[in-house]
Amino acid sequence: MNSVTQEIKDRLDIVEIVGETVKLRRSGSGYSGFCPFHDNKNTPAFVVWPESGTWKCFGACNEGGDLFDFVMKRHGWDFTTAMEYLAQRAGVQLVPVTPESQQKADEHERLYQLLEKLVVFYRHALLNTPAGKIARDYLARRAVAPQTSEQFEIGYSPNSWDSALNYLSEKGFSTAEMIAAGVLSHKEETNRYYDRFRNRLMLPIRNDKGRVVGFGARAFSDEDSPKYLNSPQNDVFDKGNVLYGLYQAKKAIREQKQVVLVEGYLDVISAHQAGYQNVVCAMGTALTERQMRLLKQHSTALIMALDADAAGEKATLRGVEVAKSVAEADAPAVFDPAGLVRNEGQFKLEIRVALLPPGEDPDDLFRTHPQDWLPILAESKPVIEHVMNALVTGKDLQNPKVKAEIADELMPIIQLVAHDIEKKYYITRLANLLHVEEASLLRQSTRSQRVNPGYAPPTQRRASPPNHQPEISPPAGISEQESWYMYCLAGLMLQPELLVEVDRELRSLRLAALDSADFPTAELKGVFAYLRGAINQDEQLPFEYASGQISHVFPEVFQRLQQYQTSILLKDDNYGEKLVGVVLRLRKRNIEYWLRELRFLLVSVQEDPEFATQQIEFFTNEVHKQTKALSAFTHAFRSRQARETLVQSLTGKKKKYG
Ligand code: UTP
Ligand code: MN
Repeated sequence: MNSVTQEIKDRLDIVEIVGETVKLRRSGSGYSGFCPFHDNKNTPAFVVWPESGTWKCFGACNEGGDLFDFVMKRHGWDFTTAMEYLAQRAGVQLVPVTPESQQKADEHERLYQLLEKLVVFYRHALLNTPAGKIARDYLARRAVAPQTSEQFEIGYSPNSWDSALNYLSEKGFSTAEMIAAGVLSHKEETNRYYDRFRNRLMLPIRNDKGRVVGFGARAFSDEDSPKYLNSPQNDVFDKGNVLYGLYQAKKAIREQKQVVLVEGYLDVISAHQAGYQNVVCAMGTALTERQMRLLKQHSTALIMALDADAAGEKATLRGVEVAKSVAEADAPAVFDPAGLVRNEGQFKLEIRVALLPPGEDPDDLFRTHPQDWLPILAESKPVIEHVMNALVTGKDLQNPKVKAEIADELMPIIQLVAHDIEKKYYITRLANLLHVEEASLLRQSTRSQRVNPGYAPPTQRRASPPNHQPEISPPAGISEQESWYMYCLAGLMLQPELLVEVDRELRSLRLAALDSADFPTAELKGVFAYLRGAINQDEQLPFEYASGQISHVFPEVFQRLQQYQTSILLKDDNYGEKLVGVVLRLRKRNIEYWLRELRFLLVSVQEDPEFATQQIEFFTNEVHKQTKALSAFTHAFRSRQARETLVQSLTGKKKKYG
């Protein structure tokens, strides 16, 4: 079986293509030159091996891959673009992706286009129609400047039952599409569809990739209900998945390494207008886990800026609930007083709480005294401390029942604090606040604590006889080496959540988490990136997301992975455990390979008088570094095997890493 990518690679000469960018000279079994991806003109640490069709930089960037990787990196392309380019160069005909995935993508694309058209329509109505005056006046009243209105693409939905409907029909969209995009409402009695948004200020909601997914629509009078009418849940809009303003805030969030969460649309808009651009909001709901993950992609520090009123306190508590459930979902949860650390680095978001002056929301503040914003943020407190204060404030701390309630609420959270010293600090603080003994807090807490399920390894089913050895041999046509990569990816594709477990296991061995770099080709790296992406998103089930994306972008690999799933994995009842062993084995093999290649390189470097001592030193160091890494791997591998043996002898179950 020869894949299209393989065929392309076979037809093209990697040395020739790389040679167009990098001046290469023969060395050992490969060619070396100066790495084009990092700034170094002293050490030709970039090596290409024509035989395996791979390349690697042994220098600062330490990257490597195949021809596709190289072209992608060189031009900043995605895989598909690289594929088109290389296929053309190789004279290979490409076949389209699977029809189903294509159809779904096309449908979504239509909805995005429809919504994009509406943005223009509403914007036009605001700027250029007499009826839009009400919206223009409203913006003026709320001191939204024209540039801000433009930046957020604010619009006006005319006071009509069918203006959007007619506009979209004219543009060639069907009623079904309008319904799917959430822009029509349905009247039961007459069975008619009509514009959902009428006579409102229209706020387009873009997701973090910049696609319009829906609208928030504000009534002009506070008597109108609801005050904000949002797009309904649909294929492209899920409130819990988007954060208003994130698209506009993304850059600032990354630069400032901090994101601030406020409560409302207009708070976000005013913040940006005042020059504070790292501000976003959830749309009238408490922050969801999915939104936290989204924020986490851009920053690790979140400040929740909340009204000092009761609702604000409630929202924060809800935030803590989410934080807790997030933490518990994939224990061992690590909750530190600075906020939340999850999954030993898997999900790490520091959460702080900043309180606004009583009776004020950020919108008021930005209009009247914006200079107070940064001091308020600077006063933010770790979420646990905030919760502690919030729960204690205004309570009758003489009442033993009240004390017990507060302790019940707080102790489970404090118990999640990772570091003993810090945990002790909070227990002491709580004890002081409540005027009780620390010991009694701890006693009460063990009694009333909810059972934290913690991490439970997947139950070992014993359906098959104890000596049953799942067969792991590659389907015909796949090399042994590749088969192991496929083994990893196929299983993870069935259950991307396993990745969390694998990472944790590797970490406990003091090894780096599984990474795209562990895979040798652009395709496999890409597949892995989607698996990682699957557990970092929440639009779909991880499994659905992974297969959707992978089948779409890497249809060939997808098919082979499926073949794997049916031929091997479904018969394997303890795949999860084996996976770590396979990963270690692959890594070990890779390093041995690099080491060998480095030794070759070293020899050739020494023979070549043109190479400076400095370069020889560099490679010697590299060999040294790799040797050390290898021995660490080997050690980890052995201790893992030793543990396996122990488990085997205890359970009478035989296990083998292929
Ligand atoms: P608020 O009621 O606090 O409104 O709702 P606000 O943001 O201060 O709005 P303005 O300043 O009066 O215009 C906070 C957020 O909750 C969501 C919106 O995202 C709003 O910005 N919300 C509120 C709704 O989605 N629907 C509603 O009916 C009300
Ligand atoms: Mn407001």
